[in-house]
Order: sequence, then C-alpha cells, then structure tokens
Amino acid sequence: MPAVGTTHRENTMGTLHNTTALVTGGSRGIGRAIALRLAADGAEVAVHYAGNDTAAAATVAQIHDEGGRAFPVRARFGDDGALDTLFDALAGRRLDILVNNAGLGSGHPIAEMTPQEFQQLLTVNVTTPFFLIQRALPLLNDGGRIINIGSTASRFAVSTQIGYTVSKAALESMAPSLANELGPRGITVNTVAPGAVRTDMTAGYTSIPEVRASIEAITALGRLGEPEDVADVVALLAGPAGRFITGQTIDVSGGTYLGPIIPA
Ligand SMILES: NC(=O)c1ccc[n+]([C@@H]2O[C@H](COP(=O)([O-])OP(=O)(O)OC[C@H]3O[C@@H](n4cnc5c(N)ncnc54)[C@H](OP(=O)(O)O)[C@@H]3O)[C@@H](O)[C@H]2O)c1
Repeated sequence: MPAVGTTHRENTMGTLHNTTALVTGGSRGIGRAIALRLAADGAEVAVHYAGNDTAAAATVAQIHDEGGRAFPVRARFGDDGALDTLFDALAGRRLDILVNNAGLGSGHPIAEMTPQEFQQLLTVNVTTPFFLIQRALPLLNDGGRIINIGSTASRFAVSTQIGYTVSKAALESMAPSLANELGPRGITVNTVAPGAVRTDMTAGYTSIPEVRASIEAITALGRLGEPEDVADVVALLAGPAGRFITGQTIDVSGGTYLGPIIPA
C-alpha cells in the first residue's frame, strides 16, 4: 500500500528509468493509458498509431507536459510495408518493453462475417503482432518484456464477436511458446486480457444503459473497466514486480463471467 502522504504515481516513478517502450495503438483508449503510465514510470515511449494524428499528438503532448519522454510513430497495420515504416521510425534505438495493444474489434456473428473482414481481423490482431515480435527481438534487450493485449472474448462465448474471439485466442496462444524460447534471455512474455473497457472501441454498446447493466450484472466487481485498470497491470508486468511472471494470461475484467452470481 502507498505510504501515508504519497500518491501511487510517486511510488512508481522511476521504476522504468532508462528503458524504452513501444506501445502499439498508443494514441487512444487502453493503449493511451498504457503509454501514459509507462512514461510516468520513467520509460521513453514510442506511441504508435494508425492514422489519427490528433489523438497521437495529444497523447505525446500529455506525456511531455507530465515531464515524460515520448514520440509518435504512424503505421497502419494491414497497409503494405507497415512494419518497415514502424521499424524505420525506431532506427538506432534499443527496446525494453513491447506492448502489442493495437487491435480491431468486430461485432458480427458467423453468418455476417465476410472473408475480407475476417482476414483484416487476423492481419491486425494476429499476423502483424507476430511479425512485429519477430522483428523486435533483435532490438529487445535481455531482461525485456513482451505484453500482448488479449481479451476475455477468448475465455467465454460471445457469438456476435466470433471473428474477434478467434483472433484474440490466436494472439493469446503466442505467450507460452515465446516465454519458453525467450526465458534464457530473461525476456518475459504475457497476455493481459481485459473485459469490457470504456473506450472508443466499445462506446457503441457500453453507452446503452441496458447493455452496460447486463455486463455489470455478470461481473464480480460490478462495473466496466477503465483503461487505467489495464494500464496498471501492464505496468506491473513491465516493471520489477513482474520479473518472475511469464507465459501467462492475466485476466483484467473485474471477474466477468466467473459463474452464476447468486445473491446472498
Ligand atoms: N475496449 C475493450 O473493451 C477491450 C476489451 C478487451 C480487449 N481490448 C483490446 O485492447 C486493445 C485496445 O483496445 P481499445 O478499446 O483501446 O481500442 P481503441 O480505443 O479503438 O484504440 C485503438 C488503437 O489501435 C490503433 N489501431 C487501430 N487500427 C489499427 C491499425 N490497422 N493499425 C495500427 N493501429 C491501429 C488506433 O490508432 P488510431 O488512433 O490512429 O486510429 C488506436 O491507437 C485492442 O487490442 C482490443 O482488442 C479492448
């Protein structure tokens, strides 16, 4: 617990001093909260994004205003040469922390899923993070951290999100094998799996009171997640406290769909 008279941020400041982090999709939502938190902990943060220059600039500016270090990196996953563009922007740098957060959602049941949408989900949520890790490994210092942002969608059935579920299950499946392979270098690899978090991605349904209430009703802690709920766990895995956790999926959903909630 924070000592009396100190803030959480004061207690964590500096734990990532002299480190560099790449946060994909760091301009908005969960990625933005992760970028802000890692920067507050002392990391220099590459704030990657697809195309929303305004949002990326705002995230970088907030980090600078808070005394941190950050720079924007624009590359739209799915476009030809996206990873070349991204790694050109990182030329000459080493990395300590890679957070594969950029992702696409989908709200279609199988009957409505087109091959094009399914392919795009796999490209952005699976194939690009896979080859991003491959290309980042030579830059990643020993003792580094890889954190993939999965989803509770891979744990329980959501038939209207089947394409998304398949993509997140594939992403989640990378951590154990990579953890074994990279253990000798002291690099940890984990998945953080949020439940429903209030971001632009979920605004369409979390803004509907009945839908929000139905999610809260199957959640042990009785509320939706906030981006900072996820960022704090990413920061734990990225920092010294996470040094002996690898190959795991950490559920950050407030206990969504654990089983029937029976009133006492
Ligand atoms: N929100 C939730 O409830 C929830 C739950 C579980 C898991 N997740 C996962 O958490 C991650 C972040 O979700 P979020 O809700 O924060 O999303 P969001 O608010 O929609 O933000 C998405 C971020 O990813 C970037 N991005 C989108 N498409 C991209 C592409 N083709 N290439 C490169 N970057 C791209 C966006 O860049 P621009 O700003 O340039 O568009 C933005 O920075 C995703 O992987 C998502 O699947 C979210």
